[in-house]
Amino acid sequence: MPKPPPGPDLFSRLDPAPEPPVRERAPSLAALNEAFVGKPPPPGFAERAVPGEGPIGAAIAFVGEQPGDQEDLQGRPFVGPAGQLFDRALAEAGIDRSGVYVTNAVKHFKFVARGKRRIHEKPTAGDVTHYRWWLEQEIDFVSPRVVVALGATALLALGGKALPLLRSRGPMRFANRQGYVTVHPSYLLRLPPGEDQRAAHSAFVADLAQARDLAA
Ligand code: URA
Repeated sequence: MPKPPPGPDLFSRLDPAPEPPVRERAPSLAALNEAFVGKPPPPGFAERAVPGEGPIGAAIAFVGEQPGDQEDLQGRPFVGPAGQLFDRALAEAGIDRSGVYVTNAVKHFKFVARGKRRIHEKPTAGDVTHYRWWLEQEIDFVSPRVVVALGATALLALGGKALPLLRSRGPMRFANRQGYVTVHPSYLLRLPPGEDQRAAHSAFVADLAQARDLAA
C-alpha cells in the first residue's frame, strides 16, 4: 500500500467528526460531570474521566489539553509533572490554585501502550469536538471572568477553530467571554535547561499575571 503523504498539521488534517448532537443542559456542574463520568471513553482513551476542579464562580478558569498518566491515576487535572510546573508558575504569578478552576479540553487520557508505559497521544480535532459540549457547559457553570487557553488544543476547543497559538498569545475573546491564550506548561518542560527555558518560563508567568489582572 502506498505511504500516505506527510500529514499537514494536527488541526487541518481533521475533522471527520460531525458536531455532537445537541444535548440537554445539565442542571448543575456536578450532574454534568456525573453524566459524563458514567459514559465509556472513545477507543484509545483510558477509562477514567478526569473532570475539572475548583470553585464555581472562580474568577479564572484554566483549560489544558487532556489528563496525562498521573492525572488519570489520581483522577485530578494537572497533578503530574506539567501540573507541578503549572503550580509553581501560578504561585510566581501570585495566583492561589485553590481559588481558580482548572480543567481540560479533553477529559480522558489518550495514550499508546509501550510495554508498561502509557505514552501520551495528542488528541485530534475530532476528539476535541467530542468533548466540546462538556467543556462549554462546564465553563458556563463556573462563569469565570477570564478563561485561559493553555496551548493549542485548548485554543481550538475554546476558539472553535484552528488558530495559530503564538500569534494568538495574549488577550482574546472566546464567544461571549473574555479569554487569554498562552502556552501549555508541558512546552516549558520540553525545553532544554538554559537561558531560553528561563525566558520562556518568565514569559509564561507574565501571561498568568496578565490574566490575573484581567480577571481582577
Ligand atoms: N496536561 C494537561 O493538559 N492537562 C492535565 O491535566 C495534565 C497535563
